[in-house]
Amino acid sequence: MTPTIQGAVKSLGYAAGSLLTVTSLSVEDVAAILAATDRIERMADAERVRLLAGRRIALLFYESSTRTRTSFELAAKSLGAITTLVSDKSSSIEKGESLKDTGLTLRALGAECIILRHANSGAPYLLAKSTGLPVLNAGDGMHEHPSQALLDLRTILVRVPGLNAGRIDEKTLAGVTVVITGDILHSRVARSNAMLLPRLGARVLLCGPKELLPESALGLGAGVEIERDFDKALKQAQVAMMLRIQRERLAGLELDLGDYIARYQLNEERLAACAPGALVMHPGPMIRGLEISGEVADGPNSAIEEQVRHGLSVRTALLVRALSTGGFESVTV
Ligand code: NCD
Repeated sequence: MTPTIQGAVKSLGYAAGSLLTVTSLSVEDVAAILAATDRIERMADAERVRLLAGRRIALLFYESSTRTRTSFELAAKSLGAITTLVSDKSSSIEKGESLKDTGLTLRALGAECIILRHANSGAPYLLAKSTGLPVLNAGDGMHEHPSQALLDLRTILVRVPGLNAGRIDEKTLAGVTVVITGDILHSRVARSNAMLLPRLGARVLLCGPKELLPESALGLGAGVEIERDFDKALKQAQVAMMLRIQRERLAGLELDLGDYIARYQLNEERLAACAPGALVMHPGPMIRGLEISGEVADGPNSAIEEQVRHGLSVRTALLVRALSTGGFESVTV
């Protein structure tokens, strides 16, 4: 077997099956996750519910979430697992308990896997190290959101015409330009996508004003470029991924929203003029009338609800991967 970065992550002391960053996944790992997603999706409910019957999964959320939390929870339940949700409000976290102690408490209560969302970049590494449990990163600060990048990838594979979703390799997304527009600086979704999609051959164009898209974003790796003119970027897009301005992370930065809307909003007029065939994506939550118009969000190009559905499916595979010590092979998916 060829050594993978996943192997390296394991040897650094993180439990196998953890998903802390997309950089730990080899292209083969991505292919295996997507193949397992397909197989689990096709199963009858009665068969799927046996995959993780009675296994204990803790959801530990220090930041608000609708899609990610609910889809992980429903995914776990569809596999027969028992879930418990701990959020920073209404738990001992409010009393000052550390992440490590909260993790050890969950482990003592029988948790076999922890799904963590945290405001601090790197928090999932600390939790994985201190508990020894498989940890799934459900978004850490401005760092990463690996399961979102995987569900976005699956959406692109299914919806962009001419792609072969059955063959995942370095060329699968060749010829596809994904334009990611908005608050790139604060977006863990943008970072994970910009690091994952080019490894399958996509070109990622980042678009936004300097305040929300510093030149340092180019450090995300090969296949990533910056185009500040949204119309120019859109003209090259097969996929237009829009992002929310993360007001909670702006830290005093003042933006002229009228100017932002004029330059960067994806509305019907702009879509029709620049990219009438592009797939429109948004990780949510979206602010209608700001980064995207309601007509585009609800329009025929939009894959926004489909992204949510893929999130549920991809997360079933990530949970099976996390809880089967021998990898997917040890469970019949
Ligand atoms: C995003 C997140 O939390 O990183 N949402 C999500 O998980 N789908 C994006 C955001 O908060 O804007």
